[in-house]
Amino acid sequence: MNILITGGAGFIGSSLAIRLVELGYKVRVLDNLSPQIHGDDPQQSPLFLSLPREVEFIHGSVLARQDIARALSDVDCVVHLAAETGTGQSMYAIKHYTDVNIGGTSILLEEIAERRESITKVIVASSRAIYGEGDYLCSVHGRVFPGQRSDQEMQVGDFHVHCPFCGGLCQTIPTREDSPPRPASVYAISKLSQEQLVMNIAPALGLSAYALRFQNVYGPGQSLSNPYTGILSIFSTRILNGSYINIFEDGKESRDFVYISDVVTSLVACIERNTVACGIFNIGSGSAVSVYEVATKLQEHYGKKVQLKVTGQYRVGDIRHCMADISLAQEKLGFNPAVRIEHGLEQFVTWVKGEKVQHDGYEHSLEELRDKGLFK
Ligand SMILES: NC(=O)c1ccc[n+]([C@@H]2O[C@H](COP(=O)([O-])OP(=O)(O)OC[C@H]3O[C@@H](n4cnc5c(N)ncnc54)[C@H](O)[C@@H]3O)[C@@H](O)[C@H]2O)c1
Ligand SMILES: [Zn+2]
Repeated sequence: MNILITGGAGFIGSSLAIRLVELGYKVRVLDNLSPQIHGDDPQQSPLFLSLPREVEFIHGSVLARQDIARALSDVDCVVHLAAETGTGQSMYAIKHYTDVNIGGTSILLEEIAERRESITKVIVASSRAIYGEGDYLCSVHGRVFPGQRSDQEMQVGDFHVHCPFCGGLCQTIPTREDSPPRPASVYAISKLSQEQLVMNIAPALGLSAYALRFQNVYGPGQSLSNPYTGILSIFSTRILNGSYINIFEDGKESRDFVYISDVVTSLVACIERNTVACGIFNIGSGSAVSVYEVATKLQEHYGKKVQLKVTGQYRVGDIRHCMADISLAQEKLGFNPAVRIEHGLEQFVTWVKGEKVQHDGYEHSLEELRDKGLFK
């Protein structure tokens, strides 16, 4: 099978390319080597250089029809990972985010439609971000889907999620795929649109279609220089530079961290399903860790302490908790995350220690958000 990975020089894409080559697939990558991910000398980016030489690389954009047309020639399966991925940044670079994520997917699907005789499957990377706050439990109203937390509450330090019916405190529970989408950022809106476009068009063309809603993916290869994404990278760079860590809200906000090799396994499971089928699946570890706890664990792994400042500040559009219900992926894809957070962090830290400590643009990224009224 010939597989095209868009965004295949990125964190997830490069790991997928390596695994697919090992499994004997023919792999082509279409990537524009965006400087925010790959730096100013992208041909030297470690992610790009990690691609096996068996991979056919096309330097091009999902916004350029001719690049896509070239990339789709003789392809059976498309894994669409190319995207802009910074949640905070998406709140002001609105047109760019919708252009790349929604516009790019639209052109890709038009070109896939032209080749529907040969292409059999499209897989798109979606995100847990589409849920907004996701599923909660109210002691009176049962399973509820609260909206975005209000500025008024957060201004006075109430970061909790309240029941949309009685206003009582809610408890986080694993979010299921049938939870109503409540995207709380432009990034999330664009991911939901990507997913809906693929899940609408590909089956209409008679193709298999999968959307995988990834939780926070981490592991070797994730960008250490992009200050707009990835708290494990940001915290690592801060720890190694001996700078304090700014922890938003009260530090009890939590995330579901899923290890890169498990994410790659979930993508391979979709690639290898050979019935014509469609599906939307949560891909996560199925458990959550607080941001404070993760900062503490990282310091232990680095054997280095920096000041953890719990600031009570917050970013507009951030969610409080997230944790995936992965039972559907377990049942249908045989997905069972194999790497527990302790082991995953150990491998991640070992990898970071071998990398060049990156210039840390984190303060600058927060300034940008503050200027635009998005960091309070
Ligand atoms: N990493 C996560 O935690 C996570 C979580 C949920 C969803 N996702 C989704 O998974 C996908 C891959 O994420 P990642 O973490 O590997 O991100 P990444 O930024 O490392 O990789 C994205 C790749 O896309 C490329 N790209 C950007 N714009 C492009 C364009 N116009 N044309 C061609 N290529 C372009 C970049 O150069 C980069 O190599 C994205 O769609 C992202 O939204 C990631
Ligand atoms: Zn209630």
